[in-house]
Amino acid sequence: MQTSTLRQKIVVLTGAGISKESGLDTFRGADDALWHKFDWKRLASVGGFYEDPEAVLEFYNERRKQLLSVEPNHAHKLLAALEQWHDVTIITQNIDNLHERAGSSHVLHLHGELTKVTSSDNRNDPKCIKELPLDMPIKLGDKAVDGSQLRPHIVWFGEFVTEYQTAAEIIKDADIFVVIGTSLTVTPASELIRYPHRSVPKFLIDPNPISDPYNDGYLGQFEHIRQSASLGLEIFVDSLLELQY
Ligand code: APR
Repeated sequence: MQTSTLRQKIVVLTGAGISKESGLDTFRGADDALWHKFDWKRLASVGGFYEDPEAVLEFYNERRKQLLSVEPNHAHKLLAALEQWHDVTIITQNIDNLHERAGSSHVLHLHGELTKVTSSDNRNDPKCIKELPLDMPIKLGDKAVDGSQLRPHIVWFGEFVTEYQTAAEIIKDADIFVVIGTSLTVTPASELIRYPHRSVPKFLIDPNPISDPYNDGYLGQFEHIRQSASLGLEIFVDSLLELQY
């Protein structure tokens, strides 16, 4: 990979599609998508956790364990390698740790992280957010530092996305904006595509057509590279030269 010396602020919004080539299912669209197999209302919502905490803990314990058996793919590694030439910030909807394991050093998780746990009463209190080894299950009766039931450090449906404003400010400052592997169907994450400055080059990497969340043609400003994350990023990196970056 070669790019010129002009360091650019490249901001990348990623979704489940970038981890597909590592063997992790996406949530929608594909036959094996997670929300075809599981009921997100029961397993990824606050109500579901209070109704059947053991089912929710088991669901996330399975996904935590699965993370031990998958590796970052070429797309994750390309984004990490890009840091040699550009200031790359990744804003991810993913709760896996594959960007970090590939070597990316600036990763902001909008929806939390499978590698961490927190308090059920004060989920955003930094004193309560802790790493928990992926091979250790979270069990009913396990306590956070504030004495409440330990829960995954995940933003469930219906919960506030604490990092949204931070993400928006980062995107406003981007020189180049790239969206990879997200159906743009979940708010407020999908609203982040509105924040890059109008003049900056915008890219969308996804093998499938993506409907414009606002039906106002805004996605038309994006160059849609209709490839998988790995192939699409190869094409994107080559185009950085044409963009004189
Ligand atoms: N490379 C790139 N993109 C891919 C690939 C691939 N190999 N395979 C599938 N995709 C694309 C799909 O075409 C789709 O547009 O990845 C996208 C996955 O969309 P979703 O399954 O909806 O995942 P995502 O957009 O990340 O979901 C957002 O929804 O359930 C919640 O919190 C969860 O963070 C998640 C949020």
